[in-house]
This record gives sequence, C-alpha cells and structure tokens, in this order.
Amino acid sequence: MNKKLKYFIETWGCQMNEEDSEKLSGGLKPLGHERTDKKEEADVIVYNTCCVRENAEQKVEGNLGALKKLKKEKPETVIAITGCMMQQEGMAEGIIKKFPYVDIIIGTHNAYKFNEYLSRALGGERPIVEVWNKEDDIIEGQPIDRASSIKGFVTIMYGCNNFCTYCIVPHVRGRERSRQPEQIENEIRAMVKEGYKEITLLGQNVNSYGKGLEPEINFAQLLRRINKIEGLERVKFMTSHPKDLSDEVIEAIAECDKLCECIHLPVQSGSSRILKKMNRHYDREQYVELIRKIKERIPNVALTTDIIVGFPGETEEDFEETLSLVKEVEYDSAFTFLYSKRKGTPADLMLDQVPEEAKKARFNRLVEAVNEISAKKNKAYDQKVVEVLVEGLSKNDDSKLAGRTRTGKLVNFAGNKENIGKLVNVKIIKAQSFSLVGEEV
Ligand code: 5AD
Ligand code: SF4
Repeated sequence: MNKKLKYFIETWGCQMNEEDSEKLSGGLKPLGHERTDKKEEADVIVYNTCCVRENAEQKVEGNLGALKKLKKEKPETVIAITGCMMQQEGMAEGIIKKFPYVDIIIGTHNAYKFNEYLSRALGGERPIVEVWNKEDDIIEGQPIDRASSIKGFVTIMYGCNNFCTYCIVPHVRGRERSRQPEQIENEIRAMVKEGYKEITLLGQNVNSYGKGLEPEINFAQLLRRINKIEGLERVKFMTSHPKDLSDEVIEAIAECDKLCECIHLPVQSGSSRILKKMNRHYDREQYVELIRKIKERIPNVALTTDIIVGFPGETEEDFEETLSLVKEVEYDSAFTFLYSKRKGTPADLMLDQVPEEAKKARFNRLVEAVNEISAKKNKAYDQKVVEVLVEGLSKNDDSKLAGRTRTGKLVNFAGNKENIGKLVNVKIIKAQSFSLVGEEV
C-alpha cells in the first residue's frame, strides 16, 4: 500500500463499535492515509455496523444502497463493511448478493486485520468476504485514533455470557474475555501522558471483569488500581449488569476520588415477570434494593438506564410496573427502546409478541415520564457550582464552551477558551430538560 488514500468511516451502534472504528482509523493513519468526513472524496468507505435492533440494520442497508451510484462513477473506491451486523449467520452472503459492489466484508472478530484485507482488495482481489465465527485471543497493542484528545474509551473486556433472551450481542461478540490489568493501566497511563483527563472503561458487562484471569482480580480491584494513576482526573464505566454490581464496586465508587458518581444500570423492565422471561437474573425488588444501596452510599449519584418496551408477553400491567419503577428510581436519563425481534434469540420465537401499535403507545408514555424526571433532576443543579471537564466549543453557540459534569450532565457555559481540556468550576444559571447553562466562576 504505497498510495496515500482518503478513508471515510461511519459507525452505528454502541461505544464498543466507536472504539473499534477508532482502531480501524488507528491502523490506517500510520500508513499515511488520511481520514475524511466526505464519502464522495474517499478512496475507501468503511461502514461499521450494528445489529442490536432492526432499525440499525435498515440504516446500514439504506446507506449501502445509496453507494451504488458512487461506485458506478468511481469503481476503484473500496467499500468495506464490518461490525456486529456482519457477524450474523448468513448476513455476509446476503449482503454481497444484494449489494454486489461491496468489496470487503469482515466481522468483528477479524476486523483487526483490516489493513491486510484492504491491501488485498487494492491488489485486485474483490470481493473479499471473510467473517470468523469464533473470537480470537485479545489483540493488544493495536494503534488507536481517538475521536477526542480529552476523554476516551478503554475497553476492559470483550463479549458477553449473559444471553438475555432478546439480545443478539452474545451471538455476535462472542464470550466474555478480560484484558490483563497491566495492559489496561499501561494504556491509560499513555493516554494521561498525552493529556487525557477522563476515561470510560468499556465492556458489555464490566462487573464481571476479571473472570478467568491469573492472578485473580475483580472489577472493584481494577477500579482501585486505576484510581491510583497519577494525572488522571475522572473514571467512568459502562455497562453494568444489575445482577453483578457488587457492594465492593459501590464501595470503590464511594471511596475513590477519580471514580465518578454516575452509574448506567440497565433495568430493561420494571416487571419481575418480564425480567424472568428476559433471563435477567434479578427481579424488581432486588433491583430496587440495589438502587437504595447505591443512593445511600453515593448520595449525589446520577443513575441512567436502558428500558425495552413491548417485550413479548408484556401486558399493560407489566408496562405500568416499568412506569412506576422509573418514577421510583428517578433516573437522570434513560435510553428507551421498542423491542425488536432478532433472529437466533429465544424471544424471537416467543408467540406472544406485542402488537406494534400498543408498543408505540407505551413507548411514548414512557418517554414522557422519563423526560419529566430528567428535567426535575436537572433542576436540582440550578444555582449550584459544579466541576466541568471542558470538551470544546458549544455546538449551538461557539462563543460558549461545552463540557460535562462528573455525573455526565452536558453544560454549555460562558468561559475562557484556554480552559478547553481542563477542569473548571461552573455556576449553573439555568437548568433545561436535557442540558445545563452556566458561567465559569
Ligand atoms: N430490542 C430492543 N432493544 C434491545 N436492546 C438489546 N436488544 C434489544 C432488542 N432486541 C437494548 C437493551 C440494551 C441496549 C444496549 O439495547 O436495552 O441494554
Ligand atoms: Fe445483551 Fe444482556 Fe449481554 Fe447486555 S448483558 S449485551 S443486554 S445479553
């Protein structure tokens, strides 16, 4: 690969996928290739796909369809697809049939070899369709081109062993495997040296970090080790599974100065009956008790969650229980999803699917309740002084700065541009439903 190319990467889905894309870019940049955000001028177009819900797949297909014209005009453009969607059985073959102008199809397990596939495609071997159905050992030391130079993701574990009955993730991301703590610490130390202030530890289920590692280590112990890294200011993590969030982890957050007071704790449903059908391994009472413990030990904690509406068999009563749970917990924010059938998952075969209309009506009611509570939670910040990590200029008004509190709240504020990348104190002068407005003090 001698020619310098322009590459375009579009990413759908979760932070894991974003991090994977940062690694794809990290592999291409050192070869002298240049990233572009204009598809039309790219020599290489990469789609990093998601399949957690059907609409994520529809978006990818829509985008692939739209490339037909571009490929006709510029046939030398390399079109590559990777990510979770490709990892599903029969998907790669289906895609190449439907979109024969795609040049490279690879899965999540072999995406780390992207440069190799690209050079083969540039050498004339097209199409290349290669999806590994088993995860390799963890690949360490991959270069990474992070989207921000202030805060960044650090994956601590890959895969998931939980098999929630609606979820495709374990089928496409493979079994749980954890990185060695030293590798994680080294990566974070290197980031701190470059000026990073905040890291978010990533995993489908970070609380089961460490299983199978020698010598033994658990997530709370990892957190305490990371908390000792000098120069690092903030540590966040996601995602936590309620069944595995231990007292030890809660204690670590309460005690360690760098661990931020925010926990993303997907509940999925407020009905114990539905939670059982989802194979979540906790019931409503256990979840509520966990929340009580968290709030007691970490008084200013911000809690966020994921909720699925319309899981098979969900009755009006079950849904009411979700609504009442949302009101009881008072989440700072919640990601709400319409249940989406995924091939290969047990829930797809359940006969009591909820009609679309009912799903949508419940969804709207839930969103309304969630938003009302978010607004109320934000109100509590009014007139308070909070620590903000300044991430850059405000999106809607570039005379202002934007950053986030330790609890993850977006703050737009008047302040000194020289403080971008630093922690500053900001007085909140107006609390809006989805963000806060303030001024540096
Ligand atoms: N339908 C709807 N939402 C889903 N999620 C996972 N699978 C599905 C599905 N089949 C949601 C869960 C999970 C989040 C990442 O996506 O709420 O926590
Ligand atoms: Fe999917 Fe459940 Fe694993 Fe999360 S814990 S990735 S929802 S199977």
